[in-house]
Amino acid sequence: MAEIERVLFTEDEINQRIRQVAARISADYAGRELKLIGVLKGSVFFLTALARELTVPVKVDFLGISSFAPSEAAGMVRISKDLDESIEGEDVLLVEDIVDTGFTTRYLLQHLSGRAPKSLALCTFLDRTTRRIVQIPLDYRCFEIPDRFVVGFGLDYRQLYRNLKYVAVLNPGDED
Ligand code: IMP
Ligand code: MG
Repeated sequence: MAEIERVLFTEDEINQRIRQVAARISADYAGRELKLIGVLKGSVFFLTALARELTVPVKVDFLGISSFAPSEAAGMVRISKDLDESIEGEDVLLVEDIVDTGFTTRYLLQHLSGRAPKSLALCTFLDRTTRRIVQIPLDYRCFEIPDRFVVGFGLDYRQLYRNLKYVAVLNPGDED
């Protein structure tokens, strides 16, 4: 049985940190409109929390992706749901739940930059630098995390735990 081992970031810590990062983003984009792009499903929880704290006008759109199993093709990602609207000429902020190896984020940044946005930046909720394989420019990040599997605030284990208000280290127990 998988079980929560310890809480890494509490609800209060998360909300406070999101307010700080949102203030920086609002200052950096002052006087402009910002298109937030979320990645289904993990980043939805962070994106909505972040968006509520932003003071610049915000639009929202979503991408769906599916990753191939590591044994099939390491770091291969496929778009399963495309954006609803064009991002051409827009200031775009890609909002990620976690940057781990960096493969997913690199693919998404390449995909989005090919659609001629005016600018493209990245904001990630969590950053696990210890497992990074592909260097990714992180414009904004909330927390760096240790080399442990985490759940909550959008992050899942087998689709569960996304709704936790906190981020916790998960002990997967015996794999079946
Ligand atoms: P990357 O391509 O290795 O950077 O992987 C990013 C994706 O792996 C994320 O979008 C998550 O879906 C998943 N992932 C990586 N680490 C964790 C974790 O600790 N908990 C839950 N999902 C994770
Ligand atoms: Mg996942």
